Amino acid sequence: MAEFKEISPDAPAGAKLLNWVDNRFPASKLYNEHMGEYYAPKNFNFWYVFGSLALLILVIQIVTGIFLTMHYKPDAALAFGSVEYIMRDVPWGWLIRYMHSTGASAFFIVVYLHMFRGLMYGSYRKPRELIWIFGCAIFLALMAEAFMGYLLPWGQMSYWGAQVIVNLFAAIPFIGPDLALLIRGDFVVGDATLNRFFAFHVIAVPLVLLGLVVAHLIALHEVGSNNPDGVEIKKHKDAKGNPLDGIPFHPYYTVHDIFAVSVFLMIFTAVIFFAPEAGGYFLEYNNFIPADSLKTPLHIAPVWYFTPFYSMLRAITGEMMYALVTCVAAAAIFTVLKGRLAALLKGAIAMLALLLVAAMLVIDAKFWGVVVMGGAVIILFFLPWLDNSEVKSIRYRPDWHKYLYAIFVINFIVLGYLGIKPPSPVNERVSQIGTLFYFGFFFLMPWWSRLGTFKPVPDRVTFAAH
Ligand code: HEM
Repeated sequence: MAEFKEISPDAPAGAKLLNWVDNRFPASKLYNEHMGEYYAPKNFNFWYVFGSLALLILVIQIVTGIFLTMHYKPDAALAFGSVEYIMRDVPWGWLIRYMHSTGASAFFIVVYLHMFRGLMYGSYRKPRELIWIFGCAIFLALMAEAFMGYLLPWGQMSYWGAQVIVNLFAAIPFIGPDLALLIRGDFVVGDATLNRFFAFHVIAVPLVLLGLVVAHLIALHEVGSNNPDGVEIKKHKDAKGNPLDGIPFHPYYTVHDIFAVSVFLMIFTAVIFFAPEAGGYFLEYNNFIPADSLKTPLHIAPVWYFTPFYSMLRAITGEMMYALVTCVAAAAIFTVLKGRLAALLKGAIAMLALLLVAAMLVIDAKFWGVVVMGGAVIILFFLPWLDNSEVKSIRYRPDWHKYLYAIFVINFIVLGYLGIKPPSPVNERVSQIGTLFYFGFFFLMPWWSRLGTFKPVPDRVTFAAH
């Protein structure tokens, strides 16, 4: 227990109150550790604002969500009408709802940029692996949260989107059909589904998200932030033990982040007031039609932030399975012939590969589509152990690494675009190539990340005063 601190009877009332609290709860200690005396590298650039923006959006989503819940009815007969009621009759209801729907898309934009920053500067590497892993878990939780929230307005897209995605679980061998039934609570998406998705969306997943965000930040503050140079600032400290290249989070980065918040809010409000549907991307037009279990829309597409993964799901056709089998066989043969492993291990790898190939040929491609879609997110968790580059930041990597990252981003955007479009033979082929590139990028990373001529990394961070 910390020692009880006395304060002069002449001290101002505010200081006395704070002292009283500090003797019972570590208020000043927490503030100092995480703000006033949290030393962050002085060379942060604009890529470092997205964490704070993600926090802001999290708060916006929770607050607007609470007010929406006051008027929303989680009942298949009333849900669609209650959203229309919020939009037309509840005072300021339209604003709350548009803030929440725009907030969902903004969340993904900001989180994608935040993740890309991590990729560029190697922020997932030792000693920040857990920050990254908590981040990936946040991303998964965010996807679940958005997916379940999307069912709530009970429009045609809500209904059929949920139908398609829940049916995917039915493709899992043995347990699939029962699992899909458990998720739906019925044989089709219905009132029971709506009720359970509501429970998950308003309380279960947000609690998990909040817990994960706290863990993410505790892990971050334990090891300290990375920076665009990928240099550890804790290597050089002053007499007081503070990093020479660090500056206190408050006031330097609070100002930095408040500026970003102002710019963000300008764009956010412009969308809310002038283009809340964002041309059908943030709010899909088909979702203005009430759910009808007897009328399947011609084209079912998830919201834009899911479409890169949806594209990968659709790319896995029977024909594509032959390409995947070839990849697995080639990887196994290469490992067995070239890998410096014990003979027993090589035998085990060959056996596993054989079993996998057999399973790939026997089980329906739809199931492997689900595996590929899930795998596209799961593989992110392993990034800290896939990257063998001798430097963290992209700044000091060979130039062609930058081009590779650029192609990765373009590929991800193309996959996203194809996921919105109706299927066609050309789209299918392009998304198959895109899927192979996406996985190739990660699976081959242990190899390619070591290649090329690296630039010398400076001992201290580079910084130009502005
Ligand atoms: C609700 C979502 C999230 C919130 C509120 C959040 C919050 C934050 C904050 C406030 C920071 C410190 C400021 C900054 O570096 O930008 C941070 C850092 C970081 N976040 Fe997140 N984050 C979220 C999601 C994610 C996701 C999905 C990932 C990756 C999969 C991720 C990976 C990281 C990493 C690696 C850092 C350290 C960056 C560095 O030091 O260079 N975060 N996060």
